[in-house]
Amino acid sequence: MSKEQRINFSSKLAVIAAAAGSAVGLGNFWRFPYELGQNGGAAFLIIYLIFVFLIGMPIMMSEFVIGRMGQKNTVGSFKQLAPKREWWLIGLMGVVTSFLIMGFYSVVAGWTMEYIYQAITNQFVNKDTATLTQVFVDFNTGTWRPILWMIAFVAISAVIIILGVKDGIEKSTKVMMPLLVVIIIALGIRSITLPGALDGLKFLFHPDFSKITSSVILSAMGQAFFSLSLGMGCMITYGSYISKKNHLSHTVVEVSLMDTTIAVLASIAIFPAVFSLGINPGYGPELVFITLPNVFAQMPGGYIWSILFFILLFVAALTSAISLMEVIVAYLVEEKKFKRFSATMLTTLVIILFGVMSALSFSSWSDVKLFGMNFFDLFDNITSKVFMPLGGLLISVFTGWFLSKESVKKEISSHGKFPTNYYNAFIFLVRYVTPIGILLVLLNQLGLFKLFN
Ligand code: PFF
Repeated sequence: MSKEQRINFSSKLAVIAAAAGSAVGLGNFWRFPYELGQNGGAAFLIIYLIFVFLIGMPIMMSEFVIGRMGQKNTVGSFKQLAPKREWWLIGLMGVVTSFLIMGFYSVVAGWTMEYIYQAITNQFVNKDTATLTQVFVDFNTGTWRPILWMIAFVAISAVIIILGVKDGIEKSTKVMMPLLVVIIIALGIRSITLPGALDGLKFLFHPDFSKITSSVILSAMGQAFFSLSLGMGCMITYGSYISKKNHLSHTVVEVSLMDTTIAVLASIAIFPAVFSLGINPGYGPELVFITLPNVFAQMPGGYIWSILFFILLFVAALTSAISLMEVIVAYLVEEKKFKRFSATMLTTLVIILFGVMSALSFSSWSDVKLFGMNFFDLFDNITSKVFMPLGGLLISVFTGWFLSKESVKKEISSHGKFPTNYYNAFIFLVRYVTPIGILLVLLNQLGLFKLFN
């Protein structure tokens, strides 16, 4: 696509809607609570927030800068800004990461579709926690159903990708976000008023710093990357669609705050209920799907709330999945000269292959392990704890050290249109704080450096 042909997001709100649509997804409602539950609660939350502000926001800004300056997909943007250098490999790693994330993301998105079905057919009422847990396990260990839902989800994402990104995402996000916030607050109120809910709030907000270990820190960092869609070229790709009139720093702040608030609200809806119902907070990926049906069953109007919630969760997953697929499709179209249709078809097929591998991790392939993990956990862990932080590190080095200061300043100020009084702080963060911070966390985990056990 030539520059003139590239679509732009139509308005300021559209940019925020698209970026927030990418950021807000299963990461907030599904992954954040289960990671927090497995990593000690409040202490994890605090470390997570530090990563969002010190590492997440500067990297999101860097990605927007690279994308909007480069005006291309994630590989093309690096080639444009650093011709004859190897920086484009960061973009390629992002494309690979997108495939791997979609491999497990589409499986969990398939679970949300199953739960829309269960909500509509009123299957949560009069069931206790043990039964609801068994319902989930039966569904997930059955071979075909999770695979079929996963394929349905990828197919729906593919259709939207083929039709073009802009309109659908913009409209659905504008309706979805406010509704999601309303539902999650209603859920939170019900959850906090359950008997014994206080323990859940304590778990969430009263930190026990002795729980902090190197793997808790790595998990919190990985979750920040995952939740904000960073380190793999997604915000570079979307950045290339942002018009020069947009004030990048506002978008960064708004999207990050929205994403973080929604993750915290989701946890307030989940943990009081988890403790009230006697569910183990460290249960793992199933946590949300076991806990929330319980809360719905005890809510006035629970039938309607549950349907609405799972539909919205599905839409949130969809807008994130689309941003992931767009990374790959934009690359194939612009760099490899594919037609948008065939690029999407190829992408879809590969994702379904990874999706089947992930879905089977809960049934017939549960014993198939690589590095001690089944495929589902492997795709999840290797992306958020290795590829995305590594991508983020390199992206910040590229922005802080390789791009000229003047050109970065010009970009973030939209050629002098907006004030840039935060500019020095930004450069300091991407030059030193972000790369060194990520490096320390990774080295610490590898045992090459000891800050925490
Ligand atoms: N941020 C999304 C979520 O929290 O569900 C997941 C995601 C989307 C990760 C896009 C990475 C990405 F590029």
